[in-house]
Order: sequence, then C-alpha cells, then structure tokens
Amino acid sequence: MAGSHHLTQNEYYLVDTEVMIVDLRSDTVTKPSAAMRQAIARAEVDDDVIDVDPTVARLQELTAELLGKEAAIFMPSGSMSNQIALRLHCQPGDEFICETGSHIYNYEQAAFAQLSGLAAKTIQGVEHLLNVDQLVGQIRADDEHLVRTRLICLENTHNRGAGRIHRYEDIVDICNWARENQLRTHLDGARLFNAAVATGIPLSDWAQHFDSISVCFSKGLGAPVGSALAGDAALIQQARRARKLFGGGMRQAGVIAAGALFALENNRHRLSEDHANAQMLAEAIRTTDGLKLTPDQVDTNIIMFEVDVELTTAERFVELLAQQGVRATAFGPQLIRLVTHLDVDRSKIEYAARVISEIMEQVAV
Ligand SMILES: Cc1ncc(COP(=O)(O)O)c(C=O)c1O
Repeated sequence: MAGSHHLTQNEYYLVDTEVMIVDLRSDTVTKPSAAMRQAIARAEVDDDVIDVDPTVARLQELTAELLGKEAAIFMPSGSMSNQIALRLHCQPGDEFICETGSHIYNYEQAAFAQLSGLAAKTIQGVEHLLNVDQLVGQIRADDEHLVRTRLICLENTHNRGAGRIHRYEDIVDICNWARENQLRTHLDGARLFNAAVATGIPLSDWAQHFDSISVCFSKGLGAPVGSALAGDAALIQQARRARKLFGGGMRQAGVIAAGALFALENNRHRLSEDHANAQMLAEAIRTTDGLKLTPDQVDTNIIMFEVDVELTTAERFVELLAQQGVRATAFGPQLIRLVTHLDVDRSKIEYAARVISEIMEQVAV
C-alpha cells in the first residue's frame, strides 16, 4: 500500500487474501455499502410495535406505491412474509397450489403445515414455470373427504428455476382463472425487482394481478435485512397482527428499514448489471466442454449448470472453485448454482469465468 498508488478493488482483494474472493453462492451475501451504512446511522427511529417507526413507515409507503397496492408491511424475512400470506389467505385444513420447485414448498420447513395447518399441492412447471393449462382441473371438488383448495402461489423470478421469469401473459391467465374459481393469489416476489428490470414491465403491472405479494430487500437490492408483504389495507392490517404472533414485531426497526429504503431507492435499476454479468458467466459455461446450462436460457441473475457425470461431481467442482476463491452452491449431485449481485463487478465475473473453464480443462484430462 506504499506511495501514492491507490489499489483497485481487485488488487486490494489480492493483497488482502492472496486469492480473489468471488462469492456467487447467493445474492443474499452482499454487505452494506458505506453510503447504505450512513443512511442506517442517520435513521430516525421509534417503537414500531407500540406505535410507528418513521423510517419503517416510509419504507412501507414506498413499497406499496411501487407495487401499486394500498399498503405494505415490513417483515424480517421473505419466509415470514410468505408464511403470513398463506396464513391469512387460508384456514387450517385448506390447500394451496404451488410449483414443485417453489421456495414456499421446499425451503421454508413446510412452515405452512407446522404453523398454519395447511396442505400443499405441487405442480411441475415447464422449467419450473407454470401456465394456466397445467392448473385447470386441479381444484378439488367441494366434498367433505377432501381439503379445500383456497390459494395459488407463484414465484417470480423462480429461484430453483434458475431465475427465470414467468411470461406476463401466463401470470394474467393464471390469476384470472384463479379469480373465476374463487381462489386467492399470492406472489413470492423475492426477486420481482429483477423481473421488472429485465422485462421493463413495471412492478405494479406484475403485482396488480395478485391479492398479496412478498418482496425481499436483502437479495439483489443488497440490504442487510428485510422483506415486505403488500396487499389491500385490510389484509395488511391482519398481517400486522399475524407478524406479532409469529414473533416478528420489531421495535426500533428503522435501523434496518433504512438499509432497505436505501436499497429500494438506489439499487433497483443497477440490477441490469447483474443480469449482464450472468450472461457472461452463462456464455463461459456454454462454451466449456463438460458443462451444460440447465436450462440454457438465463433471464436474470441466477445460473444453474450441470457438470458431466463422467468427469466429476457438483460437490468436487464446487470445492475446486473454492480453492480459486470462487464460491458456488452445489444444488444436486451434478447441479451447481451461481448468483450474480452488486458485490461482484465485471472484473470478478471475468475472473470467475476463467476459473470455471480452467478447472474443467484440468478435470477433463
Ligand atoms: C424465492 C424466494 N422466496 C423466499 C425466500 C426467503 O427469504 P428469507 O431468506 O429472507 O426468508 C427466498 C430466499 O432465498 C427466495 O429465494
């Protein structure tokens, strides 16, 4: 660090750790920037359980406005937003329909059963994306032997589905069909911000078709904590009660809401950089023998690919990547996931792309 030479970010990483760290495990790994930390330090706060924290209130208002809904409520996590939506839309003994690979079904400990007494019916989408034809005929008859089908949940973008975006027309058709059949609708929009930026279709257009929407501030937007549930004012009033029941009443929550507010105001449009970086990684994978993008299409910031079973396993490949400072997640015996985000810039992506190809050349001999 001697003299007047200022180290670039990459040189800094090399000096600091000797190997560049490129953490592509998830878009949840981002650390708050200096500007975000300043916003957090300056946040006005108050007791949001007894009354209203002013920073939380501003975050809720902006979220509701962007989603075109009457109200929104700040939540500690996306899981809590989803689970409270399920609880409010359904009664114990009801069933909701969701896609086989959905987060709500797979990665929330079946909280819908544990906490709310609900059953789930899963339907396998095409590359994890649903359309209305797959749903017709799936509503149970009104019969005392059966659970009642009450709700349909969609996920956009779809995490397990490699960040793919539902066709807008499919969302409209599914939600119209749900309404005609007296089903309620919930969108797990943890990464709806990515879908909006990638398609140019505004958040409120996507959201208008659903009775409730959860969004996350701590994924692509880069806030340290937080999610929100949006819907009509009556639903969000009930959600406040349910949040307290689930242990999610937060006192001077403006401290974390300030990070989320900063993220919402500053980090939405730059998601296109993450998407461009994902395309660069995708291209490196497409052109490397022994690797296969699954699916081949990359819509946003998530990439799934398989390593050839004849050559190595996902676990071993992830280990080899980690030795070069590239962190990835093994999602199955041969399946690996990479996620781009605001803490990996273009030069880190170029490095990761090179490492992926070089490791494959080594294992192929
Ligand atoms: C699609 C989706 N929904 C919900 C969640 C849950 O969010 P949290 O980890 O904040 O509970 C995640 C987390 O990765 C997600 O990817």
